[in-house]
Amino acid sequence: MCGIVGYVGSKKATPILIDGLLSLEYRGYDSAGIATIEKDVIKVMKDKGRVNNLYNLEGINDLEGSVGIAHTRWATHGRPSKENSHPHMDNSNTFAVVHNGIIENYADLKEFLISKGYSFISQTDTEVIPNLIHYHYSNGPVSVIKDIKEKLLSAVKNAVQDLKGSYAIEVISPLCPEEIIVVRKDSPLVIGKGSNENYIASDIPAILKYTKDFYLLDDNEFAVVTKNTVTFFDSSLQEHNKPIKNIEWDANAAGKDGYEDYMLKEIFEQPTAIRETIGSRFRLGEKCSFDDIEISKEYLSKVNKIYIVACGTAMHAGLTGKTLIEKLCKIPTTVEVASEFRYRDPLIDENTLCIYISQSGETADTIAALKLAKQKNAKTIAISNVIGSSITREADYSIYTHAGPEIAVASTKAYTSQVVLIAILAMHFAEILDSSNKEVIENLKADMIDLPSKIEQILDNTEVIKDFAKKVYTEKDMFFLGRGTDYNVSLEGSLKLKEITYIHSEAYAAGELKHGPIALIENGVTVIGIITDDKLLEKSISNIQEVITRGAKTLVITNQILPNSHFDFIINIPKTNPLISPILSVIPMQLISYYIAKFKGLDVDKPRNLAKSVTVE
Ligand code: G6P
Repeated sequence: MCGIVGYVGSKKATPILIDGLLSLEYRGYDSAGIATIEKDVIKVMKDKGRVNNLYNLEGINDLEGSVGIAHTRWATHGRPSKENSHPHMDNSNTFAVVHNGIIENYADLKEFLISKGYSFISQTDTEVIPNLIHYHYSNGPVSVIKDIKEKLLSAVKNAVQDLKGSYAIEVISPLCPEEIIVVRKDSPLVIGKGSNENYIASDIPAILKYTKDFYLLDDNEFAVVTKNTVTFFDSSLQEHNKPIKNIEWDANAAGKDGYEDYMLKEIFEQPTAIRETIGSRFRLGEKCSFDDIEISKEYLSKVNKIYIVACGTAMHAGLTGKTLIEKLCKIPTTVEVASEFRYRDPLIDENTLCIYISQSGETADTIAALKLAKQKNAKTIAISNVIGSSITREADYSIYTHAGPEIAVASTKAYTSQVVLIAILAMHFAEILDSSNKEVIENLKADMIDLPSKIEQILDNTEVIKDFAKKVYTEKDMFFLGRGTDYNVSLEGSLKLKEITYIHSEAYAAGELKHGPIALIENGVTVIGIITDDKLLEKSISNIQEVITRGAKTLVITNQILPNSHFDFIINIPKTNPLISPILSVIPMQLISYYIAKFKGLDVDKPRNLAKSVTVE
């Protein structure tokens, strides 16, 4: 949540900072702000609204400084307003701070600072930070340090020691006008290395066009960034070295590449993303290979239970993962919402394997759920799209989807590539355990290899989908029905619809319909049914028939030849193994939501109230 950018170099910082903010808007977009050091003062420009609003503020181009910090906000404490926007300053205007995360004890800290004479302009938790830095700079042990650089860094360290919660913080001050101090805990921050200039960002894509060399800051680690140096310190300010990481993502991959929206681009990137996810992990006739995890037959035979833990779309990918693992490996598998799992004292021991799925690798609840399993000595595997993300640094093993940067808030290619990767993992475990017929696995591999071209077929025929979207975009409610993996994917279809079209929707296991939800079906209500499994064909048709009888308008997404029926719309998709059919059936659902949102004139990439990466609880 919230995006951070920083620049130290010889160029004017403002255009670089604004450019970075624009590419970070998916992290939050209710306010934006910037602070640069202009000779010996800090100049702050900020307001509620999108980054474009900031860009158009009078005087923004007069900011000449070449050291600056910037922020795009997703409000937690205090509604979107100019006062609540970052950067925040201390009372003496000596320290400017941007912050991602939540300071849980801010009320106590605020009370303490007020008792010392400080006053506050905003309702944010963040405003305590610059004032705490000022407090430590002017009082107590730090205040007697002679060297100003050392004194400033120590004041920041002492202030951070007072904070409880999560944070990624940038600090600038005219006291040390050529540097930015940064620190993080449970919220991502990276430093991009340039030549005679350095960049800071909460997400790699924001600065990918300037550099591919990154330092990934660790929890409780500080860095002092100048135009020629990056110096790292641990939590007690002991200096240390840190390796640089080369990030292979193509800078163009983080752009729109001619598409109207990131979401559409990412939907169309799915064939490529899946090819990348499969990579060299398997070939027909050969066993799957995972050099990045060491899971022995001895260990796997002892595993009594697998938890798949995630949030949002990643959790939906996990549902199909469960079906795959149980079917191929015969290990009981439970899918859990991370925010529930972390607090409900789940039964975990050293024979439990916990798999965490997170596109960003930064979702606070998923990370906390992973830490919990580690405390209980379970083995942990992270599935992520972002190399070096927090979750991959916490897990025992990490495997990557390699889907390329996903920018649109509503996740699309991350979902399909997560399902692909977990399917390969399930096949790998089954090969280790010898728990499945070889032919079953070989057939599944062949079906997986064909997925990209089958997705291309769906993407080549979007007219029916567009037509359907045009007919239903003014609706208030919709229902999704499916059985088995069709139910799993219904949940994802329904989530996509809610996220970007704001249409209320519910997904139900088709057989569950008659236990309540059917009471909501009346004349004209739209029901989307997914039917891809031969074995469940008749039962699924009967369930849809039940809603037609009650007046529903129906769309069926199917790979079956359906008997001549009363469905209003049919979208045909290619056949594949039912275990992985969500990878195909989700595509029309993503497009339905996309086109409905477009017909409604909504901002597809930045839906209201949402953020791409949820780094707060
Ligand atoms: C947010 C995003 C969703 C995403 C979820 C989990 O809610 O808006 O699209 O599925 O977080 O994100 P993760 O990065 O952990 O997969």
